[in-house]
Amino acid sequence: MKEDFIVTPWEVKGDVDYNKLIREFGTEEVTDKLLERLKNHTGDLHHFLRRKIYFSHRDLGWILTKLDQGEKFHLYTGRGPSGKVHLGHIVPWLMTKWFQDKFDTHLWFQMTDDEKFLIKEKPLEEVNETSYENALDVIAVGFKPKKTHIFSDIDYIKTQYKLALKVAKKTTFSTAKAIFGFTDSSNIGIIFFPAVQTVPCFLPSELYEKNIPILIPASIDQDNYWRMARDVAEKLGYYKPAQIHGRFLPGLQGMQDEGKMSSSVESTCIFTTDTPEEVEKKIMKYAFSGGQATVEEHRKLGGNPDIDVPYQWLTFFEEDDRKLKKIYDDYKSGALLTGEIKMMLVEKLNHFLKGHQERREKAKDVIEDFMLRD
Ligand code: TRP
Repeated sequence: MKEDFIVTPWEVKGDVDYNKLIREFGTEEVTDKLLERLKNHTGDLHHFLRRKIYFSHRDLGWILTKLDQGEKFHLYTGRGPSGKVHLGHIVPWLMTKWFQDKFDTHLWFQMTDDEKFLIKEKPLEEVNETSYENALDVIAVGFKPKKTHIFSDIDYIKTQYKLALKVAKKTTFSTAKAIFGFTDSSNIGIIFFPAVQTVPCFLPSELYEKNIPILIPASIDQDNYWRMARDVAEKLGYYKPAQIHGRFLPGLQGMQDEGKMSSSVESTCIFTTDTPEEVEKKIMKYAFSGGQATVEEHRKLGGNPDIDVPYQWLTFFEEDDRKLKKIYDDYKSGALLTGEIKMMLVEKLNHFLKGHQERREKAKDVIEDFMLRD
């Protein structure tokens, strides 16, 4: 069963073995020693780091060395605007915000509406509009207005095109095939597209006319692009982009069938625009439980937090380590019931979403301060 998983930019399925991904993708584990080094700069560590939800990286140590030498990095992350934003999408943005707050640095945020047009059955106008609708969620996360640059590929391609061409020229079809699994029936747009997703790795260096280190916080499924970017970086005279890779927030129904949440399956995810009632209903009805079938059995045998989706979600959304530990222990001993742990999650999420939804409304007035176009 463990072997049965797929992680690519366009498909994530099954019960993901993260250690295996580190080996297969050739990345490094986020070690305690590295976190200690990071902490020397930041004073504390985000719970995603303390809990190794961000578990893998490339060159994070180098980013810190560059900082020590007085060279500040920029952040890069993005979103494929295929539909509404759900909580799984927000996780890397929360990680990114932490880095922006700690290091007061620029963020480049790419909306790959071009990619979504090429791989989904969606009209071009729709994915383009979704870029702006999704940007509201990005802004609601709380990024710094003057230092955050969000752009739809379709509407900012002129600035990106020269770099995309340079990357494309240095990448053979055989390399792209090996990295992305393209076949004879892949459309030629998607074969070129990876060059576009690598552009923001180099764009700040181009715009500021000096080499700038880039750190990309993203889920591990985007790694293919960074392998390609790192391959061409030196040939083009830029630094290789560094990455820190996150795990997926599991789908509500667990990790067996759906590795990550899917916006096309309502019962696997919570959207940022869901009402408190919808959140409660979905968690109560769909969240896969590691609890026992009856209260009596649960009290006697205890639950299994390691497969319990509400508990797994709390590792993402409950920041307090001591509270989380108590929930773990109580659930395992049977003192905490399935309905109770679910309600804890519902409250946590609804509290988060209340603030998010208020900021999302306000974002409508300031969106143009964030968006780049050419
Ligand atoms: N391809 C990504 C997606 O489909 C979007 C994206 C573009 C991205 N640039 C990125 C994600 C950088 C993370 C980091 O979701």
